Amino acid sequence: AAMSARQLMKVFVTRRLPQEGTKLLQKAAMCDVLVWDSDEPVPREELLKKVEGAHGLLCLLSDRIDAEVLDAAGPNLKVISTMSVGFDHLAIDEIKKRGIRVGYTPDVLTDATAELTVALLLATARRLPEGIQEVKSGGWSSWKPLWLCGYGLSGSTVGVIGLGRIGLAIARRLKPFGVKRLLYSGRQPKPQAREVDGEHVPLDTLLCESDFVVVSCSLTPETQELCNKSFFSKMKNTAVFINTSRGAVVNQDDLLQALTSGQIAAAGLDVTSPEPLPTDHPLLCLSNCVVLPHIGSATFSTRGVMAQLSANNLLSGLTGDAMPSELKL
Ligand code: NDP
Ligand code: DGY
Repeated sequence: AAMSARQLMKVFVTRRLPQEGTKLLQKAAMCDVLVWDSDEPVPREELLKKVEGAHGLLCLLSDRIDAEVLDAAGPNLKVISTMSVGFDHLAIDEIKKRGIRVGYTPDVLTDATAELTVALLLATARRLPEGIQEVKSGGWSSWKPLWLCGYGLSGSTVGVIGLGRIGLAIARRLKPFGVKRLLYSGRQPKPQAREVDGEHVPLDTLLCESDFVVVSCSLTPETQELCNKSFFSKMKNTAVFINTSRGAVVNQDDLLQALTSGQIAAAGLDVTSPEPLPTDHPLLCLSNCVVLPHIGSATFSTRGVMAQLSANNLLSGLTGDAMPSELKL
């Protein structure tokens, strides 16, 4: 028998999704799905309106889900599913207080993000964007002994801040380049670090000894602006800094200072604050800073699987079943 409209569960999806996700939601007979059918984020006022009465919310990392949104949704809200592994955009305390379940997308994007991190590291250390620019602008006059020289991984020490799923996947990929020592910092030693001969060291040791510092931790109150003046001052002048976690882990003014003063050699960032970074931001004027537009997980197949997983998390949450990937609150 067909369900009457009042029995349908209301779902708000804050963006046009890859079809792998959309298909699943369309098929779900128990849902009345409202989609913000655009490639651009839903404006805040629209989010607050559209979420009203929703049982389920499927959101992206560009939506800040705080007490105001939860209040606007009201007491129906049972499940929030984010199409991301990071959940710093969700007010977890408020969500927990209201007994709402949360789904997210760990693991499925680990390989794509680790691969992009390696690409960014190599592009930054070997100065690919500068080289490409010189070819196009006529700056390439001849082969020259010291022109566009950078730093290589062979024989180097790499320091990974946050050896989680993605951090470990980065370490696995970097090791075959001839990395001599793999250091990592974090709250406690990780048994899985043995696979990459990872040495658990205090942050200061990691910063002093690493030729490449790679940030792959989650953004928490503890890691917010972890990479500040004092952090950069401990790094080698020849070291390369890479961040693919969240922009707010870095104090960007301090990074700018470290790059312009020669305190560190170069930086590669896939994440910034804010996002997008204004086109007149001083970091974008530096030849030793490579900035990407948060594309860590951006492969067609990964984004498809992320959409599928976030739809399945949402649907399982609505029916009160076990979610494929539920965040333990
Ligand atoms: P994990 O939770 O597996 O890894 C996060 C790691 O950070 C954990 O190992 C955690 O350690 C560690 N950590 C927490 N606090 C600190 C600290 N103070 N110092 C050092 N390490 C710390 O998550 P993932 O690896 O799956 O993802 C990590 C992050 O990457 C996401 O939260 C997201 O922000 C970002 N990301 C970015 C993408 C991009 O497009 N650029 C794509 C995907 C993710 P512990 O186990 O001790 O808590
Ligand atoms: C995430 O999932 O947290 C990334 O930043 C985007 O894939």
